Amino acid sequence: MRGERVVAAIDQGTTSTRCLLFNRSGRMLAVAQREHRQHYPAPGLVEHDAAEIWRNVQRVVPAALRSAGLGPEDLVGLGIANQRETTVVWNRHTGVPISRAVTWQDTRTDGIVSRLVEDGHAPLITEVCGLAPATYFAGPRLRWILDHVPGAREGAEAGDLLFGTMESWLIWNLTGEHVTDVTNASRTMLMDLRSLEWSDALLDVLDVPRRMLPEIRSNAEVYGVCSTVLPGVPVAGALGDQQAALVGQACFAPGEAKCTYGTGAFLLMNTGSRIAESTHGLIPTVGYLLGDRPVYALEGAIAMTGSLVQWFRDSLGMIGTAAQIETLAETVGDNGGCYIVPAFSGLYSPRWHPDARGVMVGLTSFINRGHLARAVLEATGWQTREVVDAMNLDSGLPVTRLKVDGGMTANHLLMQFVADVLDVPVERPLGSEAVSLGAAYAAGLAVGHWSDVEVLRANWHRAAAWEPAMDPDLRRREHANWGRAVNRSYGWVQ
Ligand code: G3P
Repeated sequence: MRGERVVAAIDQGTTSTRCLLFNRSGRMLAVAQREHRQHYPAPGLVEHDAAEIWRNVQRVVPAALRSAGLGPEDLVGLGIANQRETTVVWNRHTGVPISRAVTWQDTRTDGIVSRLVEDGHAPLITEVCGLAPATYFAGPRLRWILDHVPGAREGAEAGDLLFGTMESWLIWNLTGEHVTDVTNASRTMLMDLRSLEWSDALLDVLDVPRRMLPEIRSNAEVYGVCSTVLPGVPVAGALGDQQAALVGQACFAPGEAKCTYGTGAFLLMNTGSRIAESTHGLIPTVGYLLGDRPVYALEGAIAMTGSLVQWFRDSLGMIGTAAQIETLAETVGDNGGCYIVPAFSGLYSPRWHPDARGVMVGLTSFINRGHLARAVLEATGWQTREVVDAMNLDSGLPVTRLKVDGGMTANHLLMQFVADVLDVPVERPLGSEAVSLGAAYAAGLAVGHWSDVEVLRANWHRAAAWEPAMDPDLRRREHANWGRAVNRSYGWVQ
């Protein structure tokens, strides 16, 4: 393989950190992966150790190179895609984080968010950054750290502490530059969605010192050159993982949409130069900035899809591997009347109910493990349907087909169910690594390895497709049952 110029991508996800190498046609040449520990200090709290994640980067990158028989000199650039909204604060002199990273699933900022709403700040926040206040976003987490970690506010005001989401933390460690990108910044509740700059008004509302914030940059440019791990290689691309998948799936035209099925599921539709306002529970966000002009997207974020399967495997012990859920679900013809609503950390798009918790309804003596397996998978299908319904109403651009990627797309039963309940075809490209590919594309565009997005579009090849086949009456009945089940999850946390 030596001689071929290659782009590296780091996918810093919720459960693991991976390094993937891609050739010019977008084919994956190698991958190395390490999981990191999930810390659950109390119900609703989820933390990561940012230092452990950085150590994992230092291991997976050389491992991927070794397995491809390549060295840093074979790389034209490195792109980073990351779990978004997960918040780290570290000391700029020692490089040591001052607390564990507070992850995007963590609900500890409930009180901060409620106060913002009670104090009447919600209209200003939504007007400036596009987001309705929610525990999901990074800004309130930063405020929580400033308020609760001893010495944090003084350190931040003295200029000793830096804030970043995961891409920012990694770029700082790799190059010494303190930067973020427009997509990650758009999830902080601190960035003006039009000017793509930090908003003084929002910094004021959240009481965050500006000097601890990274500089906001585009998704494809050289942020700096690695001084370690990949000495001499430019870090030239960074995007939040879901926006990276939008690029990796070549959704470059308004109306094109993708859904990535990982820990959660995230459906993004390209809305072009237009910031689509949402009145149906979706998130206007930056899709990507690959040149001078930003492309916006509308997003439906579902907190729990793959992680429900993980829970079914690890906490309930119903299956030995995630893949076995499909075989178990195939032992029965339907859900037997059972529905599971995975509101483990509340409900995100489109309902936004932080007070909801998981429910399982319709249990009778008839229900066996197979029915439960079906109910677990169907929860992903129905949550996707709710987001697509909201997308159709908000965007004015109906979803007529859906590109999918991520680990759960290996599950045919689930993908068929998604096509059935959406009543549109579902398509998966060759290689379901759209997140990493998108990060590689951004870095490769920045260094001239690829000339423009049309070249990337030509790399997209359909590998699998599922056509809707469900009887419309059955779809209507099941949809209504799902809705009744979701209503029962509301208001559990008081
Ligand atoms: O917004 C959270 C999202 O970026 C997490 O994605 O794939 O790491 O679970 P993932």
